[in-house]
Parts: sequence; C-alpha cells; structure tokens
Amino acid sequence: MEVTVGLIGLGNVGQGTLQILTENAKSITEKLGFPLTVKAVCSRTVESKKIACPSSVIRTVNWREVVAHPGIDIVVEAIGGTATARSIIEGALGQRKSVVTANKELMALRGAELWSLANANGVNIAMEASVAGGIPIHTVLREGIAGDKVVELYGILNGTSNFILTEIEKSKAAFDSVLAEAQQLGYAEADPSADVDGLDARSKLAILAALAFGEDLKPSDIYTEGIRRVMPVDFQYAHQLKHTIRLLCLARQTEDGLVLSVRPSLIPRDAILANVTGAYNAIWIRGLYGEDTFYYGRGAGSKPTGVAVVSDLMRVAREIRFGSPDRVSPFAHERLGAYKPLPIPTQKLPYYLRFRVEDKAGIIATLATILAKHNIGIDAVLQLPREDWRDLPFVVTTEPAREQAIRDALIEIRSADFLIEPPFAMPMQRGF
Ligand code: HSE
Repeated sequence: MEVTVGLIGLGNVGQGTLQILTENAKSITEKLGFPLTVKAVCSRTVESKKIACPSSVIRTVNWREVVAHPGIDIVVEAIGGTATARSIIEGALGQRKSVVTANKELMALRGAELWSLANANGVNIAMEASVAGGIPIHTVLREGIAGDKVVELYGILNGTSNFILTEIEKSKAAFDSVLAEAQQLGYAEADPSADVDGLDARSKLAILAALAFGEDLKPSDIYTEGIRRVMPVDFQYAHQLKHTIRLLCLARQTEDGLVLSVRPSLIPRDAILANVTGAYNAIWIRGLYGEDTFYYGRGAGSKPTGVAVVSDLMRVAREIRFGSPDRVSPFAHERLGAYKPLPIPTQKLPYYLRFRVEDKAGIIATLATILAKHNIGIDAVLQLPREDWRDLPFVVTTEPAREQAIRDALIEIRSADFLIEPPFAMPMQRGF
C-alpha cells in the first residue's frame, strides 16, 4: 500500500523534491517495497507554475487543505521562514501527520518543542535538508555515529560565504565586487546578510551542536561574526603563515564546557577543511572512540536538498508502513538539556591581528607596549612591501591568549591616531 505526501512550497527545494519523487519513483518504490505518492502540492503560485507531476495531484494555494486532507500521510514543509512554516508544521503534527522540513531557522529556534509535539501525537518530524543540503549529516549524527561521544565538530556550513572567501583568495578581488559576482551567478541573495553575516551558518551550527552534544542551543547563544571585513591581503598574510581563511563553524567540548562560534578563522592550509572551496559545505567530526570522520558535498541547490527531503520521506514512510513506535529523535537525544555555551572571551587561542595604518615611525612599538600590558605575547610581525604609506596593512600574530585580553587590548589600540580602520582579529584554529 502506498504512503502519500502533501508538498507545501514549490520554491527551489520543493521543486527539486517533486522532480526527484516523480522522476525517481521506480527506484524509490523498489527500495521501499511500496510507492511514495504525491497527493497534493501547494504554493501561492501553483496556478502559474509548470508542475512536473500527474494531473491527478491536487493543486492548491491553501496549505490548510493539505494539512487537513485525510488521505495525506506526510506533509513536506518547504516554504522556509518561521511564521507560516510553524503553523503548517504544528497543524500537520496536530493532525497526526509526520512532517519533513528543510527549515533550519525554525528548527534551530523551535525544533525541540516541535519534536515534543510530534512525539505527543505519535508521529515524526525529520529535517535532514535543514543543514548542509546534500550531505546526510543528520543521519550520521543521529544514527551513523550515535554510539560515539562527539568531542569536536567543525563545519563550513554556508556555501555563499565559502564561495565569496575562496573567490577573494583566488582572484584577489575585494569583498564587494566578489559579492556582486556571487549575486549575478545566483550564489548570493539580493539581501546577502543572512549568508555573509553568519546567521544562516549559526542556525545550522545550533542544530548540529544539538544533535552532537544533546543541548538545546539557541542560535543567539552562539558567538557569530560574518565575512565582510576579510580583505584579499588577509589571504596573502594567511598564506605566509601557511594558513587560509574560512567561515568556520565550531563546536568543541572542553573541560570547562562547550565552546561554540561562527567566525572567519585562520585554519592550516594542509587541513582537510582548507581544501573545501566554492559553494561546497563540509563537516569534520572527532569522536572519543571512532576518532575523525569527514563529510563533504553540496550544501544547497534544488536537487541535492531535494535528495535530503526525499530520503527523509522514505524513512518516515517506512515507519508509517511498518508501524515503528520508537522513533529516533531528530536531535539524536531523547531530551535536550538547556546548557549555555561558554562565553567566547574565556577562549585561549593564538590570534591574527590585522592593522591598517597611515605609516609612521613607532607604530610597532606602540602596539607591542599595549599587547604586553595585556599579557599578550607576540609570535610574528608580518609586513608585505609597502605600496601606499597612507594605507599600510600589516599583521601581528600572537601566542595563545584569552579573547578577553585581545578585546581589551584592541579597544585600547583603537584610539591610536595612526589607524585608518579598527583592527581586525581572527582566531587561528588548530588541531584538525
Ligand atoms: N544560503 C545557504 C548557503 C544555503 O549559502 O549555504 C541554504 O541553506
């Protein structure tokens, strides 16, 4: 007997899902042993869209029709955002329909609540597509390495930022012109803020860290910085240091607690994550027992994300068909704790500090005095040949220092008359 699907949202993800469900129906049926049938599609523009499915499929602009339809077993929420999407998901779960969603923002904010609601109604909520599109990272954390204890997780979770950073690295063009190119190519949105300011990556890290560490981590708990300040010269200096720069999402269990951050960081050039270029995503995980594993693939796109949705649909369809009462939580833990991550200022790391100055004598001496006052040791001073004495970028790298000390020193340095913009600090992440 078939299991039926109602698909709400026919944007990028919805269309990819529909295409795969339709074109790949034979293979899906062979794997499941029964058909997975699209019963209804819903979109505000359903009338004007060319929809690749049989004419028997219900087409509607009203999501409530899909959620209430007694012949639909699983609802796919593919509209994104947090308002209507929440009503759709709560409505479907309340009707005892399982839900498959691609919605990282909503699941990062309210996932634990929605899972409780699903549980109370004896149904499931699945969200593989919410993080790193085509990489089955939820399945890995929920099932593949569930027997391990995750100690560290590092990710490149925003394809747009990674595309922009690696283009700056390759072409030496400035952020603004690379962003414009990314927008033209369709890699960046007209309003790029969610991507380049780290907010999209932050939601994804909140979800992955919940799966990895069993804590209900809110995105606002995660220290986040975007990539707008990274300049081509930062790559030149980073390369001199045998490093590169990536928007690194980090979740690390330390003796004192969990550290979480999303920020542009220097990483060693020979690290596996340094080879992740363009719009790709990757996640590197260290387990206490299984040690290192690495996952790589497309983080977005209609079809890679569609595969994630369809694979979730197949898993949930099997549960429905074979009546599985013990569902695995989408967060890998039956219950999530409410632990807060450690404040970033307590973190101790080497830092890359880039200064842009109007050149004159005594600048290094001034900086060295202030850094020494805050007990920060200098590891190296790097200066490329001077092209313009009115805008000279140079770099100081430090010995491992508390971020609080770095922040305090930089506040003091900010008032120096030789600076033409505030100093820019990035941690130098090691150990992977
Ligand atoms: N905008 C995201 C990215 C893809 O650039 O990775 C969707 O999560």
